[in-house]
Amino acid sequence: MTAPPLRLETLSGEALRAALPGLSRLRLAVFAEWPYLYAGDPAYEERYLAAYAEDPAAAVVVAFDGATPVGMASCQPMTSSHGTVPAAFRARGLDPARYCYFGESVLLPPYRGRGAGVGFFAAREAHARSLGLPAAAFCAVVRNPNDPRRPGDTVPLDAFWRRRGYVHHPDLSCVFHWREIGDDRETPHVLSFWLKDPL
Ligand SMILES: CC(C)(COP(=O)(O)OP(=O)(O)OC[C@H]1O[C@@H](n2cnc3c(N)ncnc32)[C@H](O)[C@@H]1OP(=O)(O)O)[C@@H](O)C(=O)NCCC(=O)NCCS
Repeated sequence: MTAPPLRLETLSGEALRAALPGLSRLRLAVFAEWPYLYAGDPAYEERYLAAYAEDPAAAVVVAFDGATPVGMASCQPMTSSHGTVPAAFRARGLDPARYCYFGESVLLPPYRGRGAGVGFFAAREAHARSLGLPAAAFCAVVRNPNDPRRPGDTVPLDAFWRRRGYVHHPDLSCVFHWREIGDDRETPHVLSFWLKDPL
């Protein structure tokens, strides 16, 4: 029997605030895995996600299994996102005010392959259009394919993103700092952008 589709809800403001503790647990669980290997801190996570609840133009699409959140994907105008993102666009002569920035998309492994990832893109693109933004962008960490930590069964998401209409721009990138599992300090990580312009 095929599993039923997950229920997706687009949350903002107070409704989003109520969901934050469950969402920070999701980010920590999924980003601890390859390719992010992020040794996260729950207090930082809640502050990071609270910024979405405080931005009236931001939205988080949450995937639910019954009442339990099992995935999430965020979006907000690029001009109100983390400063290094609009700065990377300006440095390449692109106008950040055109873009809806998709911050992350995470889904617990048992729920993958059931359409939630496709639904996350559709809901975030609908949100971008509702804000009058003509284009969307997200970034993904750049890893060496020969990295010995890469699990052998890794399926890159590049083809999935191309099928959603996104184009990779390896020459458009930014640097985020985080502590990787096993390290005792933060290190810089390059993330390159994928654009859908126009939506
Ligand atoms: C990115 C991620 C959210 C994708 O989630 P997903 O739910 O597995 O993706 P989907 O099931 O929607 O799509 C996967 C494929 O299954 C297909 N699919 C399967 N069942 C489907 C259904 N019921 N409805 C629609 N599509 C379905 C999709 O069409 C897609 O195939 P396609 O690209 O050939 O069209 C998930 O892989 C993840 O959490 N990865 C780890 C975190 C990460 O790296 N995030 C990205 C950077 S932030």
